[in-house]
Amino acid sequence: MILYLDDRNYKENIDRAAGVITDGGLVAFPTETVYGLGANALSADAVSRIFTAKGRPQDNPIIVHVNGMTMAEQIAVFTDKAKDLADAFWPGPLSLVMEATGLPSVVTAGLATVGVRMPDCDAALSLISAAGVPIAAPSANKSGAPSPTLAAHVQSDLGDKILVLDAGESSIGVESTVIDMTSSPPTILRPGAVTQQMIEQIIGKVDHAQAFEAAEELKPASPGMKYRHYAPKAAVTVIEGNHISVAESIKYLYDKDIKAGDKPLVMASRENKKYYGPRDLVITGSIHSPEQAAKVLYSLLRDADEKGYTSIYFEALPRVGIGFAVMNRIYKAAAYNIVKV
Ligand code: TXA
Ligand code: MG
Repeated sequence: MILYLDDRNYKENIDRAAGVITDGGLVAFPTETVYGLGANALSADAVSRIFTAKGRPQDNPIIVHVNGMTMAEQIAVFTDKAKDLADAFWPGPLSLVMEATGLPSVVTAGLATVGVRMPDCDAALSLISAAGVPIAAPSANKSGAPSPTLAAHVQSDLGDKILVLDAGESSIGVESTVIDMTSSPPTILRPGAVTQQMIEQIIGKVDHAQAFEAAEELKPASPGMKYRHYAPKAAVTVIEGNHISVAESIKYLYDKDIKAGDKPLVMASRENKKYYGPRDLVITGSIHSPEQAAKVLYSLLRDADEKGYTSIYFEALPRVGIGFAVMNRIYKAAAYNIVKV
C-alpha cells in the first residue's frame, strides 16, 4: 500500500510506518538516492524479512540508516577520518563502512563491519526518529532489478502488501557512495554522488575498487558487487567512442535487430538525438549534466521493460562527477557488454 506524504497527513503516516518498524515489520521509504526497504536494524527477525521480501542472497550485508551521530555511534566505531567524512557529507549519499558494534549478524552478513549512512531526506529522517531505532535498508527492488526511484517501482517489484511511504521521485537517482573506512587508505567500494575527488578534499588519498572491469575477473570488493545488478530484462549494450562513430554503430546494431524481428531502443544524449532519425529513442540527459542521467537512469530501464523492448543501446556518457557512478551502473546492467568504437 502506498501512503503519500503530503503536508496534511505527514505525521500520521510517519507514525503509522514507524509503528510497523517497531513491531518488526517492513516499510519502504524514500531517500535522496533510491527508495529503501527498511526494518528495525536491532532485530534479527525483522531484518531477515528483508532478505525474504527481496529474494536477496544472505551473504550481502545491509546499510543501516541513522538520524544523526548519536545513533550512528551506537552501532559503529568511528575513526577520525570517518568522523570528518560524516561531518562533511551527512546528511547525504555517503555510506561509511566501519567496525560494527551491537548489531545482529544478519545485518552485516556475518562481517565485523557495517555500512552506515544518514540520508538527506526529511521523510527518511522523520521515520527513523519516530521509530527510535536505526533502520537497516537495502534498495527496495527485487534482487537483481534496477533500484526504485519512485514508490510505484517498489510496488511493482514487491507487491501491494508492503507499506510504501511516497515522497515523489528520488532527487539523485543512483545509490550512495560506499567507502570502506577500515582499510588504509580507505577504499571506495561503490561510486555515487559523493565522488573520489570530494572525499579526497576532506581526508586525503583514498583507493577506488575497480568500477569498470568485468566482475568475474575480480575478487569482489563489496559482497554486493558480485551479483548481476541494476539489470532490466532487455539486453543492454553500451557503446563508447567519439559521438559520430557511436551513433553510426548504434544505428547499424539497431537496424540489424529490426530485421531480426527484435524491438530495440536507443538511449542517447539530447545533443546526439539528431543522428537517429525515426528510431525509438529516449533521452538520458545532456552530456554536460550527468546529474540528469543519474536521476532518470533506473526509470528509463524499467520503462523499457514495460514497453517490451528487447535490446537497449546506451551511448556512454563522460565519467565526470556522478557520471562515473552512472557509467558504473550501466556497465553492470549491460553485464559488461561494451562496444568500443
Ligand atoms: O543509497 C543507498 O545506499 C540505498 C539507500 C536505500 O540508502 N541503499 C542501497 O543498499 O543501495 P543496497 O543493499 O542495495 O546496497 C548496499 C551496498 C551493497 O553492495 C553491499 O554489499 C554494500 O553496500 N555493503 C553494505 N554493508 C557493507 C559492509 N559492511 N562491507 C562492505 N560492503 C557493504
Ligand atoms: Mg541494491
